[in-house]
Amino acid sequence: MNHRPAGHPPTVWKTGTAPGIFPPLTHGIALFRRPLEFLDSLSAHGDLVEIRLGPTRAWVVCHPRLVHEMLRDARTFDKGGPLYTRLRGLMGDGVVTCPHADHRRQRRLLQPAFRPARVARLTGPMGEEAEDLCRAWRDGQEVDVSAAMMTVTTGVVSRVLFSDALDPARAAEVRDCLSTVVRGLFVRTVVPVDAFFRLPLPGHRRYTRAVARLRAVVDEVVAQRRRTGGARDDVLGTLLAAADGPEPEVTGGEVQDQLVSLLLTGAESAALCLSSAFGFLALHPEAEQRMHAEVDTVLAGRARPTAEDLPRLVYTRSVVDESLRLAPPGWLFTRLTTREVEFGGRRLPAGTTVLYSPYLLHHAPESFPDPERFLPERWRRGGPDGPFSPMVPFAAGSRKCLGDTFALAQATVTLATVARHWRLRHRPGPVPPLRPAVTLGPRALVMRCERRPEQPGPVPAGTAAGAATAVPRARACPPPAVRVPREAGDAGGHDA
Ligand code: HEM
Repeated sequence: MNHRPAGHPPTVWKTGTAPGIFPPLTHGIALFRRPLEFLDSLSAHGDLVEIRLGPTRAWVVCHPRLVHEMLRDARTFDKGGPLYTRLRGLMGDGVVTCPHADHRRQRRLLQPAFRPARVARLTGPMGEEAEDLCRAWRDGQEVDVSAAMMTVTTGVVSRVLFSDALDPARAAEVRDCLSTVVRGLFVRTVVPVDAFFRLPLPGHRRYTRAVARLRAVVDEVVAQRRRTGGARDDVLGTLLAAADGPEPEVTGGEVQDQLVSLLLTGAESAALCLSSAFGFLALHPEAEQRMHAEVDTVLAGRARPTAEDLPRLVYTRSVVDESLRLAPPGWLFTRLTTREVEFGGRRLPAGTTVLYSPYLLHHAPESFPDPERFLPERWRRGGPDGPFSPMVPFAAGSRKCLGDTFALAQATVTLATVARHWRLRHRPGPVPPLRPAVTLGPRALVMRCERRPEQPGPVPAGTAAGAATAVPRARACPPPAVRVPREAGDAGGHDA
């Protein structure tokens, strides 16, 4: 393991090669079968480590400082490589996938919808979606938490994108398509051999159908809005205003690409973050109790938090941060160099594939002592910060996640709203493992709901803030570690 602290660069970067570079499919298969172990093993070989993905030679960046150097130079390390090649087939050249040259224009267009003031206004709808969901739960019932969280996040993100245009049937279809697509994308990324995926196998056909259906649903929503007209204060309204104006800034195709991009990135990652958090809390009753105590104090009998409550849900937010550290939904990304560049002690030619992994950085013991342990207390003082922070669940630089503030608010509001009434318990038997696909998190996580005792009603104004400070302080001696099970990549043999 590489023991250099994140903030201190070595005078000479160490480069290496992952063992087993031949035959050429070995590393792709390792990434596919046991991706997390494979990534964990790489820092032992250097700060920049060579691997093979099928016929492609690629470099994995293992030191946080080098990752930040790469992310800051988005012109040289542009969106590209196997992941983004695949994503372009799905999202076209929307803001997530577009090349650097077109990025600033697209980001400027979409940014206003995700500004903090807008996000604060969405706190109400975020809580409503979570409340609607768990109002139907019954004590002792088993619920598919993964599906439930997808319902909440698809509901909220579709309000931002197209107000209320996604009716329940279409929303359910979108969720089904997304789950097929994220599974199929992963195997296409780590085994980038196009000829194989052109074979008419049932899984390949399912993937192609899901992509087509997702785009068709978005088309229907856009066509419906065009028919009914009327300016709406949502992302679709912004895009149509830019597309249909006297000097169109955006093409019809781009409207669809942006909506598909935001729907996919916005719903899936946020749902996985929440499912992971509920899974971790059930394994760590002391953390769960502490969060419940905070929620009860801050909500003081109210059904869900407001934007003003968010700064006081300090421990709840630490649970979100720790879940994002241990199981970052975006866990592996690719870039492609646009010119020859001196990087990490190597001269990389133009067209080199470079990978970085928030998972790898978040699990490095030199950055996070006892990294496999779920310990929200780590974030009590804000966690590792600074320009080369190893905590990068939303990336960094100009391609940093557009929805980070939105996602953090949504996760905190949803956790607090559910925790107000419910405690979620794992079913007897082994806990479902983290299953990496193109995103990381528990899939098909089924848990049992236990109703929490009714909390006292609202307290008189002015007393809640004081009471919030009475949340128990972090224990000097943290609870015993429960290891998080990990498993093979979920590229879904049958879904590939
Ligand atoms: C917990 C939830 C989320 C996580 C962990 C997450 C993570 C990330 C990461 C790591 C990237 C950078 C990818 C790269 O470097 O190649 C990214 C980009 C992006 N994310 Fe998120 N994301 C989340 C939620 C959201 C939400 C809710 C939205 C919007 C509705 C969103 C929209 C985007 C967009 C548009 C980009 C591309 C930004 C650009 O290139 O300018 N994300 N996200």
